[in-house]
Amino acid sequence: MNLILLGPPGAGKGTQAKRLEDRHGLVQLSTGDMLRAVVASGAPLGQQAKEIMAAGKLMPDELMIEMIADRISQPDCAAGFILDGFPRTVPQAEALDRMLEEKGLKLDHVIEMKVDDAALVERITGRYTCSKCGRGYHDTFQKPAVEGVCDACGSTEFSRRADDNAETVTTRLAAYHKQTAPILPYYQARGVLEAVDGMADIDEVTGQIEALLKDKAA
Ligand code: AP5
Repeated sequence: MNLILLGPPGAGKGTQAKRLEDRHGLVQLSTGDMLRAVVASGAPLGQQAKEIMAAGKLMPDELMIEMIADRISQPDCAAGFILDGFPRTVPQAEALDRMLEEKGLKLDHVIEMKVDDAALVERITGRYTCSKCGRGYHDTFQKPAVEGVCDACGSTEFSRRADDNAETVTTRLAAYHKQTAPILPYYQARGVLEAVDGMADIDEVTGQIEALLKDKAA
């Protein structure tokens, strides 16, 4: 099963992708995480990525297309993958179609996570992750069972993303509406677009996604 989670910054794509990964044995392909790994590695591309991400703008299409083409060719993707953060422009969506066709693969689900802009700033500015295992949390919506201790690995070190501030979120949202939202009619026209209410609580959103997966599998 190959699927795309689409939605604005903070919609819950990463949160739900992690759950689907655990439940269905799929691989989460988060282009944001890939770029943050490049930045952390100190590779030459890292400086450009760091500046663009900090400004809340999008990286060049060719680069992102090459990154995903390389990633989905790897053996661990054979059992299925969840795209989280890609495609983000119509040229990326078109390139993905060509990539999948070449490999004889198809998209089983393109799921839009609908969330009001007003809720996104609160979600993003309250987000933090475990520095050791990467598990995601939120100051209000997703706290660890024991304050200050990661549920998954017991670490007490956490970090926040450099682009998770109110100012950058505004630019990221504008980029979403201008450059990414046009993907929705692209997939709608192909009859593969589905949607969930991303304003619901985290477990409920998972339930809605699972229902879509089950419906199509039936
Ligand atoms: P990326 O890392 O992809 O960021 P994003 O799309 O802005 O998405 P986020 O990771 O911020 O949000 P999310 O939807 O995963 O939400 P989450 O589950 O964490 O990209 C970063 C940058 O990289 C881009 O700005 C761009 O520069 C570059 N980039 C990446 N891909 C690119 C591409 N293809 N082309 C060009 N450039 C690219 O949830 C957020 C918070 O809310 C969490 O704390 C969570 O606990 C909480 N939460 C989640 N769901 C709920 C819920 N239902 N109710 C309440 N709280 C919730």
